[in-house]
Amino acid sequence: MGIAYHAASKEFHLYNAQVSYIFCVMKNGQLGQLYFGKRLRDRESFAHLLETAVRDMAPYPFEDDRSFSLEHLRQEYPSYGTGDMRYPAFTVAQENGSRISDFVYAGHRIFAGKPRLDGLPATYVEDEDEAETLEVTLEDRITGTELVLAYTIFRDMPVLSRSARFIQKGPQTVTLEAAMSLCVDLPDRNYDMTDLTGAWARERYVRCHRLHEGVQEIYSMRGHSSHQFNPFLALKRPDAGEHTGEVLGFSLVYSGNFLGRVNVDTFGVTRVLLGIHPEGFAWKLGPGESFQTPEALAVFSERGLNGMSQTFHRLFRTRLARGRYRDAVRPILVNNWEATFMKFTEPQILEIAREAADLGIEMMVLDDGWFGKRDDDTTSLGDWYPDRRKLPEGIRGLAQKICAMGLKFGLWFEPEMVSRDSDLYRSHPDWLIGVPDRRRSLGRNQFVLDFSKQEVVDWIGDRMADILGNAPVSYVKWDMNRSITECFSTGRDADFQGEVFHRQILGVYALYERLTSQFPQVLFESCASGGARFDPGMLYYAPQAWTSDNTDAVERLRIQYGTSYVYPLSSMGCHVSAAPNQQTFRDTPLQTRADTAYFGVFGYEMDLCALTEEEKEQVRAQVAFAKKWRRLVMEGTFYRLLSPFEGDETAWMVVSEDGRTALVGYYRTRQPSNAPFLRLRLAGLRGDLAYRIEGREGTFFGDELMQAGLLLSDRASGVRGSTVRQGDYQSRLFEVYAI
Ligand code: DGJ
Repeated sequence: MGIAYHAASKEFHLYNAQVSYIFCVMKNGQLGQLYFGKRLRDRESFAHLLETAVRDMAPYPFEDDRSFSLEHLRQEYPSYGTGDMRYPAFTVAQENGSRISDFVYAGHRIFAGKPRLDGLPATYVEDEDEAETLEVTLEDRITGTELVLAYTIFRDMPVLSRSARFIQKGPQTVTLEAAMSLCVDLPDRNYDMTDLTGAWARERYVRCHRLHEGVQEIYSMRGHSSHQFNPFLALKRPDAGEHTGEVLGFSLVYSGNFLGRVNVDTFGVTRVLLGIHPEGFAWKLGPGESFQTPEALAVFSERGLNGMSQTFHRLFRTRLARGRYRDAVRPILVNNWEATFMKFTEPQILEIAREAADLGIEMMVLDDGWFGKRDDDTTSLGDWYPDRRKLPEGIRGLAQKICAMGLKFGLWFEPEMVSRDSDLYRSHPDWLIGVPDRRRSLGRNQFVLDFSKQEVVDWIGDRMADILGNAPVSYVKWDMNRSITECFSTGRDADFQGEVFHRQILGVYALYERLTSQFPQVLFESCASGGARFDPGMLYYAPQAWTSDNTDAVERLRIQYGTSYVYPLSSMGCHVSAAPNQQTFRDTPLQTRADTAYFGVFGYEMDLCALTEEEKEQVRAQVAFAKKWRRLVMEGTFYRLLSPFEGDETAWMVVSEDGRTALVGYYRTRQPSNAPFLRLRLAGLRGDLAYRIEGREGTFFGDELMQAGLLLSDRASGVRGSTVRQGDYQSRLFEVYAI
């Protein structure tokens, strides 16, 4: 690994064994992009990769060189309005209204390690030699603004991290109207763009389309990363698939408004921009002030989409998630939400807990409805005091009783929200986001608290700390159930308002930072109406997230498959719920529900007391199975094998790092009639090892399982007694062990 600076050619080459990223200082002092992809041998100059051409109509800054036009140069952090007609990476407005800038190279430094980003989540290193960082400083002479572009290359992963920092060193006040975290200009457009789209209860469906000239975007302007789009996009070569081919993956470590824009010009040059959404954003920089963008990550894979995902998984699991639970197996929990909703009594919760303890479950989580007088969603958010009608001895009393059963106890909060019918709203009407003299839109009957105000964050933090500090709470589910509208902070200046969206999420991060430091023993799970804030920013504070409110196994195959493009299994909350399912009314077998949920952080979301004796025995066995496999599921390498977006079958597997143990999941949502023979080609095993498969006769070499495949045709498979379940919505698991 290294970062080479070639002084004669003014080129930077960031590389490790797998990837190279190369750029240069161009003759106008700005930065030009040369290469991003598979590792290249270092050389003094790659200047020939900066192609130029004389093109009609193209503007040019140097009278004697018509070929040097920003419109046709590939750039590192392009500006607005000086010849590049594509979308810029940033815009700085001056006091006189001009948006023209000229940031030229002023110096750089290269150092071991990776610095933190103040107040923002980011990937990190534990040893300085895990990564190297380059900071390039550029200056705009007229405004005196400094721009620091930061790059970190990881030693052992094909990952490049980027961010930008603006520092106003001049005497005037400037306004940042756009400040993206990353720009990559690729020389051609021969890519398919893959991203994750959806809505509530169908989050992160995989979408893929060929790039076309013009702009294709993913975005959120909701104040959170959203159900609709995820702050991730990949560009894959058309011949790349799950296992082979070149893929570039981009991810933003941020939980608020974002934009991922792919701008293809009519010469086929592809510009990728990723960062905070400029809409509604305007950040004032007075003398001495600075602005730090969130971190963006660029991953290169030549092993297809699985290769890209495996890099993101490893990075996010080991160098983004933090705290005690980063490396610890997660407790198997039961959550009362789908069992009781908000209408519960303490005896009911204790009944479920007793049953849970008997079945081997390790934690009881009390969801929404325990505070104020909240029997439905019209009331009490903000009043974080236990409802004594439901919990006569408060949270402490309930938690103690649950702990006495040998279980851990977990609790739900929705810290960023307030109900109109609440003491908090009545005493602090000015603590809401919204324009005072205009209508405030409701969402799920609630308003959003103004977390750009420190006193609001402190007050909510104190309430939560009071509960967490006075009861044995081991887990917090941090929910967030509406988007932000009428974004405005009461009592602030006009030019503060463009900062509110970003300051809101900084407030959320600050509260997470406070609580995770104050209560390091607590496991945090993030949630937003299911999976509306499943993003890398949240993973920094909460190592797991509620994947979706849709717990139907068939739907979960798609949701978990899509989520796995970026996020590790250790981050996906996956629970078995009752059938027929509450969202889809589909009746799937209990075994299929569990077989799907094993590939995540396993738990239950149902009234365990309503199970038959036979079902309880099944659940007992499931819990034991999950305990046996959870370490491998969390730490192993995940491979997607068959896509639920392409047919009736889904398959995936997790393999231990040494390739000796694997768990394979195969799911068939529709029973075929008179089916053809089926084989499933496995991945990640060791070709030279012999394996046995639990419940199946004989031994199989790894190369055979990967090349010829695992026989799934029931008669041909040699399954003892042919116990394979038939019908729609069936699943099978294969436990694979090296002999
Ligand atoms: C939305 C979450 O996704 C659910 O799991 C549940 O916690 C409800 N909110 C509670 O209001």
